Amino acid sequence: MRLPAVRTPLRAALPLLLGCCLSCSGGAGAVPSALPGFPAGVPGAGDRLFPRAGNGGYDVTHYGLDLRYDPGPGELTGTARISATATADLGRLDLDLAGLTVHRVAVDGKPAGQGRDGTELVVRPPRPITRGARFEITVRYSGVPKLLTDPDGSHEGWFRTGDGAVALGEPVGSMAWFPGNDHPSDKATYDITVSVPAGLTVVSNGELAGRSSAGGRTAFHWRTTEPMATYLATVAIGHYTVTRSRTPGGLPLYVAVDPRSDDPGTAAALRRIPEILAWESGVFGPYPFASAGAIVARLPTGRGGYALETQNRPVFPGDDGPPAVAVGTLVHELSHQWFGDWTTPADWQDIWLNEGFATYAEWLWQQHEGGRSVARSAASAFADPADWAFPPASPTAAHLFDAPVYDRGALVLYELHRALGDRAFATLLRTWPAAHRGGNASTAEFTAFCAHLTGKDLTPLFATWLYGKAKPARL
Ligand code: TRP
Ligand code: ZN
Repeated sequence: MRLPAVRTPLRAALPLLLGCCLSCSGGAGAVPSALPGFPAGVPGAGDRLFPRAGNGGYDVTHYGLDLRYDPGPGELTGTARISATATADLGRLDLDLAGLTVHRVAVDGKPAGQGRDGTELVVRPPRPITRGARFEITVRYSGVPKLLTDPDGSHEGWFRTGDGAVALGEPVGSMAWFPGNDHPSDKATYDITVSVPAGLTVVSNGELAGRSSAGGRTAFHWRTTEPMATYLATVAIGHYTVTRSRTPGGLPLYVAVDPRSDDPGTAAALRRIPEILAWESGVFGPYPFASAGAIVARLPTGRGGYALETQNRPVFPGDDGPPAVAVGTLVHELSHQWFGDWTTPADWQDIWLNEGFATYAEWLWQQHEGGRSVARSAASAFADPADWAFPPASPTAAHLFDAPVYDRGALVLYELHRALGDRAFATLLRTWPAAHRGGNASTAEFTAFCAHLTGKDLTPLFATWLYGKAKPARL
């Protein structure tokens, strides 16, 4: 599920002089050189906004994370087993990991060399990995995971709460709690097991596959069998009130609420999840995953502030209320399950494909509820100067989640509706999320999809609304 890419072993020469050996281990050792005659993998997936996010040369198929967390010291200890396929010959490869101490790395069970270079964990396998080969990297690590600050000043990574922690990873925060290929272009399945002191609950993505208690601790095993981008992986650890149920259609729901955020408005909003999912399924096509739900967590004030569409069950900042969860936000995050989680941007610059659709979903919902019409939402977005700072298709890393991505992104869809008419637009909303079958999509693929669906020349529309710098004279 990713682009094959290799870089010739340019960087390899220097560490060779530093004499790093195969037995490098522990902490920040020198970066090992590539095995002679074999190229080093690339330390980035080629993202236009986050050049060091992800890596080239391999495709992860599965993450097996076996973790232990102790909220007192805030210490995370664990083993990551990363199953991957080489997309190039590899004499060395990179994983992404921010902070933490790496104790041991093995490839297919045999000790490997390793070193740290910023957020790259550089691994030298004991023998070359050939293109097409399947291999498993095991990383044993521990430490107090970091809260990262992004170019836009927002926080992600590992948030400590009063009684536990919450992991939020958009755009590049999963590397704060597990080593991996931290870029949306490489989706994989997951088994996430976290052991915590008895009495605490662990909520994650996918379905609860097992739970066992021993020696004053409880381990929760969550399994995600549908491909998931690293930024959508989460764990929420703490005291939670859990409600398990099913929608009328039989979809399992798992809703976890921090009791401190359990206000009546939030409870009323969460009870509407089945209704919202049924409505969204009608508009966007069948719900893509095997389970759904929500996590309402007590993120530290001033450091949380935003909800995130973590796969299967979005996280909501519980100190944002009351109500901690508003229906509009619930509609927004649940719509991301189609737009972002099922069909995932190939590059962070394509983020409007997530946020434009999720904003448009909110507009549609308001109209559906008998509130503000889509036309009035569009008019108000059009009138807001903040929405015209840049075109939705070209945010910078420092403005990744700014108003133009959301509102101008939704305006692109509003204009498409006008150009396509009701029927073709309804078809677009239902077929686009499924078109990439749980993979990735770019803005160019979206515009091509629209043109193919309608047979119309939509170039001028996209030039103005998606790529254009200037504000059009009128809506
Ligand atoms: N994707 C989230 C949403 O709109 C928002 C989000 C994630 C965000 N990371 C952020 C907003 C960082 C601001 C800053 O559903
Ligand atoms: Zn969103």
